[in-house]
Amino acid sequence: MAAAPASWLFPLLFLSSVFAFTSPATITIPISPSTHHYSSSDPWKILNHLASLSLSRAHHIKFPNTNVSLVKTPLFSRSYGGYSMSLSFGTPPQIVKFIMDTGSSLVWFPCTSRYLCAGCNFPNTDLTKIPKFIPKLSSSSKLVGCKNPKCAWVFGSNVRSKCQGCGPSNQNCTESCPPYIIQYGLGSTAGRLLSESLDFPNKTVADFLVGCSILSTRQPEGIAGFGRSMESLPLQLGLKKFSYCLVSRRFDNTQVSSDLILDMGSDSGDAKTPGLNYTKFVKNPVRSNSAFQEYYYVILQKIVVGDKHVKVPYNLSVPQSDGNGGTIVDSGSTFTFMEGPVFELVAKALEKQMANYTVATDVQKQTGLRPCFNISDEKSFNVPKFIFQFKGGAKMQLPLANYFAFVDMGVVCLTIVSDNAAALGGRSGGGPAIILGNFQQQNFYMEYDLDNERFGFKQQSCA
Ligand SMILES: *[C@@H]1O[C@H](CO)[C@@H](O)[C@H](O)[C@H]1NC(C)=O
Ligand SMILES: *[C@@H]1O[C@H](CO)[C@@H](O)[C@H](O)[C@H]1NC(C)=O
Ligand SMILES: *[C@@H]1O[C@H](CO)[C@@H](O)[C@H](O)[C@H]1NC(C)=O
Ligand SMILES: *[C@@H]1O[C@H](CO)[C@@H](O)[C@H](O)[C@H]1NC(C)=O
Ligand SMILES: *[C@@H]1O[C@H](CO)[C@@H](O)[C@H](O)[C@H]1NC(C)=O
Ligand SMILES: *[C@@H]1O[C@H](CO)[C@@H](O)[C@H](O)[C@H]1NC(C)=O
Ligand SMILES: *[C@@H]1O[C@H](CO)[C@@H](O)[C@H](O)[C@H]1NC(C)=O
Repeated sequence: MAAAPASWLFPLLFLSSVFAFTSPATITIPISPSTHHYSSSDPWKILNHLASLSLSRAHHIKFPNTNVSLVKTPLFSRSYGGYSMSLSFGTPPQIVKFIMDTGSSLVWFPCTSRYLCAGCNFPNTDLTKIPKFIPKLSSSSKLVGCKNPKCAWVFGSNVRSKCQGCGPSNQNCTESCPPYIIQYGLGSTAGRLLSESLDFPNKTVADFLVGCSILSTRQPEGIAGFGRSMESLPLQLGLKKFSYCLVSRRFDNTQVSSDLILDMGSDSGDAKTPGLNYTKFVKNPVRSNSAFQEYYYVILQKIVVGDKHVKVPYNLSVPQSDGNGGTIVDSGSTFTFMEGPVFELVAKALEKQMANYTVATDVQKQTGLRPCFNISDEKSFNVPKFIFQFKGGAKMQLPLANYFAFVDMGVVCLTIVSDNAAALGGRSGGGPAIILGNFQQQNFYMEYDLDNERFGFKQQSCA
């Protein structure tokens, strides 16, 4: 993929090299690890950074800010450890970069030449070069009105009562949709909703709802929400399914990308993609928590660690009537999160089967990951296999690089995080019990079959 753009107005020629058409009903977009933001080349510090990001992300997924007076979708990833894509908006088109996020739904970009981003001074990020969308250079930019049903997608159906002069009796209301503010643990973003055209080669989607953020903290890129709410990219485009293959994170400092495929096919029917294993998506039974409704829930029943079958307790495996429990697939989390009771069983099974290696307690302290083993004296290194087994029998056997990170000096650490009272602000047990992060999805082809409400995957090399 091309380097970060220095200007927002791109020659149209460039577009055809960014996007490729594979079939009339399919749009393919390159997707690559987001490369801003490592503050260090020290692998321990990077792991520690990714571990704490994964935990704070888990916190926001599990305990979304349910104060809906401002906005319906409070959950947001930060832009680290994520995967980036480019989209082209406006007339003439401007290209902007986004983190692809299946854990949230609004699509928003850094917007206007005055976009302010506090806490965005990352080592590899030149603030002045953050690609921004400039609405006044686009003839198709419109502010979304308060009466526009799309305003209610984000703010809920009673939003009109919040717009002055837009009561049910006034059909002439010209008020625009209120500003959105999205808050998350270590950052936030705020702006106005726009209606814009979203351009693909040979296809323009008119009146796409997109957030024009003018003020953010810690957001050097926009976010493309692929979640299950109306405002998400897949739902606005009416996709039948979408799929991606995430290249290995060891390409983080290169320009390697892989494909995100948007499928608007007319009648794919219920045919499965050859070679994929499928499990059903399930809905969270609690409809009043809008954040839980936008997650992609699946049922993970068992985690096989070598010869040990760790059964996920039923109330953690299946979303319960209180909304808690269940597993979600999240492209915006880095390391997979597991609720304490499951994580401890997995860690114990691993420690028991790797008892011949020294536990590297220092490295555990420094990375925030565990268990870590010192394998520097070993001629060969035997690791138990690691398999996620979903309802219906589909099995996802992880390659070693998806569950162990190799720290230098001959130490390896399990790349799964868990909560402790401190990390989750004293709360635990709420929200999804397991969050399947992108580190565990590397080199898998992942298909979100929305028409048939199922999740398919197979191992493959993505680069
Ligand atoms: C767009 O459509 C034209 C004419 O149908 C075709 O020649 C061209 O290859 C298409 N472009 C892409 C990127 O698919
Ligand atoms: C919810 O938002 C309103 C308006 O911003 C604020 O006054 C109130 O304190 C918030 N409540 C909580 C529990 O955060
Ligand atoms: C709405 O606009 C129409 C035409 O401009 C006008 O006749 C009518 O009085 C307006 N209604 C209200 C409630 O302002
Ligand atoms: C998983 O995929 C493999 C390869 O296509 C297939 O042989 C196997 O039957 C599938 N298993 C399930 C449970 O779908
Ligand atoms: C540990 O090492 C001993 C002696 O080499 C060997 O017999 C045993 O199988 C090893 N255990 C594991 C769990 O690898
Ligand atoms: C790993 O073990 C080797 C040999 O016992 C030792 O020299 C090295 O310092 C250890 N590494 C760490 C990170 O503890
Ligand atoms: C699941 O059930 C166990 C025992 O029945 C209970 O201790 C635990 O709190 C429950 N967890 C959740 C998240 O409901």
